[in-house]
Amino acid sequence: MRARPLNRATVVLSALLLGLGLIMVAVTQARAAVACTVTYSVNQWSNGFTANLGITNLGDAVSSWTLEWDFAGNQQVSQGWSGTFSQSGKHVTVKSLSYNGSLATNASTSLGFNASFSGTNDAPTSFTLNGTTCNGSPGTPTPTPTPTPTPPGSHADNPYAGGKGYVNSEWAAEARADGGSAIAGQPTAVWLDRIAAINGVSGAMGLRAHLDAALSQGASYAQFVIYDLPGRDCAALASNGELGPTDLDKYEHQYIDPIAAIMADSKYANLKIINVIEPDSLPNLVTNTNGTPGATAECDTMNQNGNYVKGVQYALNKLHAISNVYNYIDAGHHAWLGWDSNFGPAATLFANVAKGATAGVSSVDGFIVNTANYSALKEPFITVTDQTRPSKWIDWNRYVDESSFATAFRNQLISDGFNSGIGMLIDTSRNGWGGPNRPTKASTSTDINTFINESRVDRRPHAGDWCNQSGSGLGERPTAAPAAGIDAYVWVKPPGESDGSSTSIPNDEGKGFDRMCDPTYGGNARNGNSPTGALANAPLSGHWFSAMFHQLLTNAYPPVQ
Ligand code: BGC
Repeated sequence: MRARPLNRATVVLSALLLGLGLIMVAVTQARAAVACTVTYSVNQWSNGFTANLGITNLGDAVSSWTLEWDFAGNQQVSQGWSGTFSQSGKHVTVKSLSYNGSLATNASTSLGFNASFSGTNDAPTSFTLNGTTCNGSPGTPTPTPTPTPTPPGSHADNPYAGGKGYVNSEWAAEARADGGSAIAGQPTAVWLDRIAAINGVSGAMGLRAHLDAALSQGASYAQFVIYDLPGRDCAALASNGELGPTDLDKYEHQYIDPIAAIMADSKYANLKIINVIEPDSLPNLVTNTNGTPGATAECDTMNQNGNYVKGVQYALNKLHAISNVYNYIDAGHHAWLGWDSNFGPAATLFANVAKGATAGVSSVDGFIVNTANYSALKEPFITVTDQTRPSKWIDWNRYVDESSFATAFRNQLISDGFNSGIGMLIDTSRNGWGGPNRPTKASTSTDINTFINESRVDRRPHAGDWCNQSGSGLGERPTAAPAAGIDAYVWVKPPGESDGSSTSIPNDEGKGFDRMCDPTYGGNARNGNSPTGALANAPLSGHWFSAMFHQLLTNAYPPVQ
């Protein structure tokens, strides 16, 4: 993953939500104990739909609630979340759960359900809360997305703060068995990289098993990677996925829906479930389309058919509807989006995508940079100035490390409309660059390229190299709130898992052979036609790569004690 872009593409943002209908029913009663607003928005396909509801309590505080309505047609709820649903004929009753029943005056909560229907799918015209009608005639449908109300206190600003992370016992066992006991207790993300991963591939733990294990560990948060978009990884081959470019329907209903249904189980309501949304996809639309030197036909296809945008919006909608679930969108890394030509357009694309989601920008808790990449957290001996920008390594970028990029990109995102509370994550799993070759001081050379090359801690041949990097080490251990605006340093790529095979290996995972993982390849436009810096003898992406794991331990920075 991770292509280095040379130029920006014109981004054609064509996609908006399919069949989004939004109505609002409101009534305020002067002295009533119960007064309420209910929002009801629908995302539908031919014979089914997902509805998201928001309740705002405008009356006296309640300690539990019952929401009721009658369907207009033959709609039938198949599964609901954030409430106990029952349906009798057209009548639906939803009772609050232990954690979301208490609603102070002006407090809000959200819930939702999946349902089937045939014929028309008109919205209910009236709702009651604890027996009192929140009625009135439906307001005029509005094209402007209404933010889903978030109950104060139930959705943390920084889900990493003040709690311990879930340790994936399967990764930990591999790490421990391969000499990594010293780091096997670190929280790493679980990659839901195909539909079968939801239930567990070949006897491995599925999503429920991981969430149950997180509960039994007493973890306060658990991290997952949502990674199965149609036409996945359009600029590279090593992480191609199982879904073809037009498989949006499968993505939504066979991948996202079951994930959302499990994450919405009230059993997990006290666990903060953190999702990294679709590494590489939106960044690829910015940089690898429309005739740029790095463009690929696959990325053009995904740009034109809108399925990355629609898929990400669908994921945001379904996952944000669950109040203990957090969404972080992948935002590339400094040597991808750090150039002026990519930086602004990427933030604009992300903002447009989020604004097209039901809850708008509020469906995004933050962004992650450096996912599965090797860019240094900090280059202690290099400052980006007019003198250093023309160097071959920096190549006119404004940033030379992830700390500076993450902070600047966050500011840009906020000025493009994201909430000022968004936080950044930095994947520090493999960006340590320690060991004997790490420079300990700035070079004294007066030649700018020599100066940069002798001073930089990132030892890659080129910052566009991304596969199984020779010389890399573990980076900062996962840390909550390490700096202003940074929600956490995280280990999203589990150290020890390959980025891609160094030779072609037949497989049934949809994985291709990307020559950026071949140490003998001379590179392409996305890495300035440089050597790949990849280690030899690598297995398929996601598979255990022992030699790499040992190198990561040896070159860890900070060192592993
Ligand atoms: C692979 C996934 C794998 C993940 C974590 C990705 O590059 O495509 O299959 O789960 O890395 O190792």
